[in-house]
Amino acid sequence: LELPHLSFFAGAKIPSSFPPERVSEVAFVGRSNVGKSSLINALADTTVVRTSDKPGLTRQINFYAAGKIFNMVDMPGYGFAYVKEEEKTQWRELLSRIFIFTYKEKNIKNFFFLFRKGVEIQIVLTKCDMVIPPDLARRYVVVKEKLQHYKNVADDPLMVSARKKTGILKLRKEVLRTVDA
Ligand code: GTP
Ligand code: MG
Repeated sequence: LELPHLSFFAGAKIPSSFPPERVSEVAFVGRSNVGKSSLINALADTTVVRTSDKPGLTRQINFYAAGKIFNMVDMPGYGFAYVKEEEKTQWRELLSRIFIFTYKEKNIKNFFFLFRKGVEIQIVLTKCDMVIPPDLARRYVVVKEKLQHYKNVADDPLMVSARKKTGILKLRKEVLRTVDA
């Protein structure tokens, strides 16, 4: 199972420079350094998206076309000091175009407005190779319990490792299902 070839086609810092929304979009949202850009590469089996060990690498919203079928949208991580308040407000607008995002537990309240908008959401727990299996199992239960309160959020969090490629196939299937490919 593969995703269509990925190619960068637009970068934007403000909603007025977003490309027109012609196809479904799968966006990756979460705190800086959780591994959003790496996850896009792993899903598409590519290295088109730049990643870094320092938080705050992705500084604009980057749009990648997956063939002609859908777009993958790489968001700048939030929770990072240099981001101005006005920039955060602008990002919220893009978030209404979101289908999938990464998740860090204490920031779930930032996503309440997404829940209200009825956007389809999949919680992804990243870097699972860094957590020992018993801890992972415990986190899964905690997060899953929280998700039961939201209608448009998938029941199960997906646990992935871009590094070890665990869970990637499952998330890839989920992405394709979401975009009706
Ligand atoms: P921002 O663009 O700053 O928001 O960060 P990001 O969420 O895009 O993170 P990025 O993909 O750049 O990865 C950050 C760091 O985490 C890099 O050093 C990656 O190599 C590392 N990383 C990404 N995925 C994994 C993973 O599955 N396991 C481990 N151990 N490290 C990972
Ligand atoms: Mg990034």
